[in-house]
Amino acid sequence: MTPESPQTQFVDVPEPAAIKQWATEQGILILAHSYQDGFLQEAAHFVGDSLELARKAAEEQPDAICFCGVHFMAETAKVLCPDADVFVPDMEAGCSLADSCKVEDLKKYQDHLEKKNGQRPVTISYVNCTAAVKAASDIICTSGNAEKVIRSFPENRPILFVPDMHLGGWLNETTGRDMTLWNGACEVHELFSVEELEKIQVKNPGSVTISHPECPKRVRDASDHILGTAGMLKMVKEAHGKTFIVGTEGNMIYRFEKEAPQNTYIPAPGASCACNLCPYMQKNTPEKLWQALQTRGPQITVPEDLMEGAQKSLARMLAIV
Ligand code: 13P
Ligand code: SF4
Repeated sequence: MTPESPQTQFVDVPEPAAIKQWATEQGILILAHSYQDGFLQEAAHFVGDSLELARKAAEEQPDAICFCGVHFMAETAKVLCPDADVFVPDMEAGCSLADSCKVEDLKKYQDHLEKKNGQRPVTISYVNCTAAVKAASDIICTSGNAEKVIRSFPENRPILFVPDMHLGGWLNETTGRDMTLWNGACEVHELFSVEELEKIQVKNPGSVTISHPECPKRVRDASDHILGTAGMLKMVKEAHGKTFIVGTEGNMIYRFEKEAPQNTYIPAPGASCACNLCPYMQKNTPEKLWQALQTRGPQITVPEDLMEGAQKSLARMLAIV
């Protein structure tokens, strides 16, 4: 219960298993991103990374989805399941990356690059963007499939990659491309401190540092492996008795400890705090989830004129991997 949400006061919330059972009886599919806290992960029918959640929504085509994540993720589910009621615990759960790329600015930049180079670039958008940006893009990618998406275009094809400059920079390094990068960043992954990370590495000899590609280059260069959240989970499940220093959102460790308890996990430290929790993901609480399920709201809507374009760019991504 949070002071800024009086509507959730006095709400008696059942245990996660009872919430899940109740939602099943009502025909509501609860999806949760791995950055949600343990309670919300336990209440969900399915927990995953951005790609897995999009795939799950597209495959299941349920009548109703309660999406525990941030706005762009729920919007993606709505685009993929236009006939479903898609609703969220908190409409204010946004994303600094998605906010960094306004569709008007993107269109101006696409025009500018076309004029400058005599050829319109292919626009590849990381899924952390609005439906309007998806509709103005050629194809979408997630951290789990970005390399494959980029390699699906000929090497000499100019590419504009939006909105994450760090993920884009890492992809330029791994694919040898020279994509033009949008200037956006995730406020959570930007805060990791290399100096503090190196101190923890020294204190834990033999540890393995795994970091998300949304981290800046200085953090990536100090890490052993750069992986999206699904890639991280796969790696820790296959390891035994290792210590992992985890350079991504703090709640990811809940999932690691549940699904790969044989290892030890240490959160990579931030510059000013050790938690690295996404403030937008944290807006979703058990109380708000329970209330959203009762009222089937607040509902996500996507304007009709954006639907087709956003569906096309997402469908191209889903067809690649
Ligand atoms: P994943 O695609 O790896 O799940 O990451 C989503 C996200 O928002 C990272 O900040
Ligand atoms: Fe957006 Fe960063 Fe939060 Fe992911 S962790 S939802 S990129 S603000």
